[in-house]
Amino acid sequence: MIKMIHSYWAYIVLIVLIFAVINAFLGLKANKKFEAKDLRISLFALIATHIQLLVGLVTYYVSPFYESMRNVGMGEVMKNSDLRKILIEHPFVGIIAIALITIGFSKHKKKTTDSAKFKTIAIFYTIALILILSRIPWDLWFAN
Ligand code: HEM
Repeated sequence: MIKMIHSYWAYIVLIVLIFAVINAFLGLKANKKFEAKDLRISLFALIATHIQLLVGLVTYYVSPFYESMRNVGMGEVMKNSDLRKILIEHPFVGIIAIALITIGFSKHKKKTTDSAKFKTIAIFYTIALILILSRIPWDLWFAN
């Protein structure tokens, strides 16, 4: 059940994050004013990723992969690229990405110009998006 929530919520996370990135780049390029709607889009991406982090943490401990790690040990997990990706790289890089989104969101609030606000969101959210995309277990996701 929790794995299913993590799996479906991932669509929301990606859609909202991609939307926030595009919105930030468009705002920057067109020299737009950073309005309440831009704040809401960035905030929604922050909230969506934080929910995914919480659900991900629970998913981790109930996952059969975690059970495998307990059985075979950390050394074997590191040697096996599939297990390493799901149990180490995906969660670790996901947490870094969510930290970047949080830093980007809090930094943008301190900026005084509209373009600096858009730029901060654009940079931090884009790096986070790339990190997340690089470590999603795609084969597992599409196998369901
Ligand atoms: C950054 C946002 C994240 C996204 C977009 C994301 C997305 C996904 C997706 C699409 C899957 C495959 C689900 C499936 O098999 O249908 C998955 C699996 C998994 N994720 Fe995440 N995830 C994120 C963060 C995290 C975090 C932070 C953790 C742990 C702390 C985590 C733990 C896991 C685990 C353990 C699995 C494997 C579950 C299993 O098959 O038993 N994820 N994730």
